[in-house]
Parts: sequence; structure tokens; C-alpha cells
Amino acid sequence: MVHNEWAQPGEDEMVEPPPIDTTVAHSARMYDYWLGGMTNFAADRRLGAAVEELIPTIRTMAWENRRFLGRAVRHLIQAHGISQFLDVGTGIPTKGNTHEVAQLANPAARVLYVDNDPIVLAHANALLSSTAVGRTAYIHADLREPRSILDHPALRETLDLEQPVGLMLLGVLMLVADADEPWLHVAELLDALPPGSCVAVSHVTADFDPRAVGAVVNAEDEGRITLVPRTKAEVGRFLADWELLEPGIVPVMAWRPDGEPPADPQAAYYWAAVARKPF
Ligand SMILES: C[S@@+](CC[C@H](N)C(=O)[O-])C[C@H]1O[C@@H](n2cnc3c(N)ncnc32)[C@H](O)[C@@H]1O
Repeated sequence: MVHNEWAQPGEDEMVEPPPIDTTVAHSARMYDYWLGGMTNFAADRRLGAAVEELIPTIRTMAWENRRFLGRAVRHLIQAHGISQFLDVGTGIPTKGNTHEVAQLANPAARVLYVDNDPIVLAHANALLSSTAVGRTAYIHADLREPRSILDHPALRETLDLEQPVGLMLLGVLMLVADADEPWLHVAELLDALPPGSCVAVSHVTADFDPRAVGAVVNAEDEGRITLVPRTKAEVGRFLADWELLEPGIVPVMAWRPDGEPPADPQAAYYWAAVARKPF
């Protein structure tokens, strides 16, 4: 079921999505552009191409982040027995969405998607192609208001909070300014999850190439997009006192790579980590 906050009770699927402003670039649509998707407009492509001038490997980086999603979800299922996921900052549906990866490994996996961009809401039906024994749902809500996620009826309908949950926070925290207190909101989400739950984070960083990433921050700022690269220590703060799973906080390409370790793991400017709530 797709839920959005404009719906009257019982009308979730009948309500028009909120208007989509195609005249200014949006992070979800730029990311879609770099991934080779079709859900982007001229403003997104213009800023997306400007960023690509500054970081010519930006498309590969976006795909490396998606590959991490796949590896993290499979690892949580296979090594930690997690079968339910809360994916906040879902993005426009593309290849290898969380429920597709999860349900390949465990057909009974359940996924609740959350995003605050109306265009993701407009395409959310593509995220609901669940197996018969699993379940998926989507809510239009904001990470900066964790109660809007935690108190939403869809959360309890989709996930069992007595059982460990895999919280996916991939490529989203970098879009939340320090002034919006992302650490506080993530802590509230972590607190709501039972022991044995895991959180996966990927986060853009300027640690590997400060000049290029600094230029991208300026370009996105001019395009009215908030982009906050964070250091390894700042990313670590999102994980609170949860136990870091091996190999720790590492460049995204170096997080449990399939096959050979990458020759230059810092070629994608993301930190990645998965941590587990102690019992
Ligand atoms: C770069 S995409 C990442 C998509 C996917 N998680 C991935 O890693 O491939 C970031 C997504 O986060 C969403 N987002 C940004 N700020 C958000 C917020 N405060 N609450 C919920 N979603 C947010 C954007 O709308 C966008 O769809």
C-alpha cells in the first residue's frame, strides 16, 4: 500500500500526489539521471551534468552505492537472519530495489520504504511488487520527523518491531543539514528498533577528494540542493553505540566486496558501514 500524508483515512491510493516542481533540480531525480533512469527533467540533467564535469566518475559512484545496498541487504539476511527492512530515503525505483534483493534471498522478507520526495511517491507502485509471502509498503514521510515514520500505521502493518529490523540509510543523510539535527533523528529511529537490529549507512564524504567534492557542494548549493559531505568520525556518530560489523567504516567499494578487493577503494567518495544493536 502507498501511504501519503495528503490522504484522508482510507483514501491512501485515491489521492493525487503533491505537485512536482520540474523547474529546479532535485536530488532523487539527479541520482536517477546518474543511474541512467528516465525519471528526470531538464533542470536535473543540467545540474547532474555540471556535477559530472566536476566528478567524471559520478555515475560509477552512484552504482557503487547501489551495489553496497545489495551486499548489505544480502549480508543482513544471510549472516544475521534479518528478514525485515526499513529503507529511509528510498529514491526513485531503479534496478535492485531493497525488496527485490531481499526477497531473492528470502521470499518472505518485508520492506517498508520511506521518502519525502513527491516524485518517489508518484513512482512508488513500482516498489510494491512483493512476493506473495513477503510484503512491501511505502510511506511519504520525512526523516527529520522520525515520529511520522515510527507512529505511522503502515510501520506496524509491515514490520514486527519485536524482531530485528535492518534500517537502511543509504545516500540520504548527506541531504540533511547539520542544523536539521540528523544525528538526533537517526538516534530516535535506532532507539525504536529491538536488539539485533542493524543499520546500514552510506554517506558522501570529502575525505578522499576535498577539492572536487567541495566544488560539487557549491554547484548543488547554487542549484538549491543541500549536500553535506561528512567525515568518517561524523558518519560514525550516526551509529551511536551499536557494534560495528566487519570491516567497519570503510570506503563503500571496500565493504565486503564480491570477488577481488577493489584496486582503489577511494574511487567512490562514500563512507559505508553496518552496525548492530547489542542484545
Ligand atoms: C541519493 S537518493 C538515495 C536512494 C537510495 N537510498 C540509494 O542509496 O540508492 C536520496 C533519497 O533520499 C530522499 N530524501 C532526502 N531527504 C530526505 C528526508 N529528509 N526524508 C526522507 N527522504 C529523504 C530523496 O528524496 C532521495 O530519494
